[in-house]
Amino acid sequence: MARGDPGIGEEPAGIDDTALWRKLGRDPLVPAAIYAAARHHLVRPTLDAPATAEEIAGRCEVDPAVTRRLVELLTEEGFLEREAGHRYRATPLGRRLEDPAVRTEVCFWFEIHLPYVLRLDHSLRTGAASYDAVHGEAFYRHLDARPEYSVHVRGDLARGASEAERVLSAHCDLGAVRTVVDVGGNTGSLLAALLRRWPRLTGVLVDRPEATRAGTSLLEEAGLSTRARVLPGDILSDPLPAADAYLLSWVASEWADAALVGLLRNCRRSMAPESRLWILEPVIWEEPPSKRRRDLDLLIRATVGGHLRSERDFVELFAQAGLTLRRAIRTGEYVDVVEGGPDAAGRT
Ligand SMILES: C[S@@+](CC[C@H](N)C(=O)[O-])C[C@H]1O[C@@H](n2cnc3c(N)ncnc32)[C@H](O)[C@@H]1O
Repeated sequence: MARGDPGIGEEPAGIDDTALWRKLGRDPLVPAAIYAAARHHLVRPTLDAPATAEEIAGRCEVDPAVTRRLVELLTEEGFLEREAGHRYRATPLGRRLEDPAVRTEVCFWFEIHLPYVLRLDHSLRTGAASYDAVHGEAFYRHLDARPEYSVHVRGDLARGASEAERVLSAHCDLGAVRTVVDVGGNTGSLLAALLRRWPRLTGVLVDRPEATRAGTSLLEEAGLSTRARVLPGDILSDPLPAADAYLLSWVASEWADAALVGLLRNCRRSMAPESRLWILEPVIWEEPPSKRRRDLDLLIRATVGGHLRSERDFVELFAQAGLTLRRAIRTGEYVDVVEGGPDAAGRT
């Protein structure tokens, strides 16, 4: 190698790349080891009694030499503790890897989430979701074929329902609403929360069949099936039921502009002149947005090719769909509210 031609790991005199490498996360071994341990249940043989690396490898049917190194690394990272006779026992942290929900989450993170996030460069070049390029299919379709992850993702989405219900109930007049359509309402937890809070309200849950199947059970178990209807379908193209209000909670941001205009038009076609459309999701109130909103915006772009929007963006897209933006409410919470209704000219 010629002098002054630095090889990998060498630095030309006077340049210190420490900060660069720190940001790159120089050592991917730790997360990779956590994933390998979760995927192959490496901690399981140590739950009840300490086990040697060879015993762990034997029970997990994995390579003994790699296991010997991995258990040392996992011990250093606090997942195992070393006991007499080169035996290892699970720590409380290590036991978490054997909790089925945690294990699914770790596997989802490594197998599904990280690979496309690491290819953000694809979204940078194309403006489209890196998810499709990496996994070969769009997000929801890909998940449909992997029920264990789909349940995890849908459960994760459902955790936002109580905040969405609280924000909507605090800022919008639901007392005057008799029927609401939750467009892309996932498994119905937001609709259920609204029906519990507003006893005179009835609702329709519209989503992909994989979500509405779970929605039917959720609403039945909540004792709300007489006040809620479940409609499997495509929110972009299938006619939506007539209603006083249409909810798009964390849905508008999933779509690029042209598709969102199509979705808004679809809602508009079913609306009466007095109907309301409520969008619930973070709005970009200023540039640059907060770190949390910026990161979320990037992730949405990589996952589904949609993005967060400003009030001005919504004004323009509503107008293209025959809607007028009536209020954009900065709630002070993570989720904001954008309210619209049919424009006075009655265009669709
Ligand atoms: C980010 S989630 C939001 C879920 C829920 N509204 C919430 O607040 O958590 C987007 C939802 O849109 C649904 N969705 C995506 N594309 C759809 C389509 N073409 N037709 C029906 N539902 C769709 C997904 O299944 C998912 O439940």
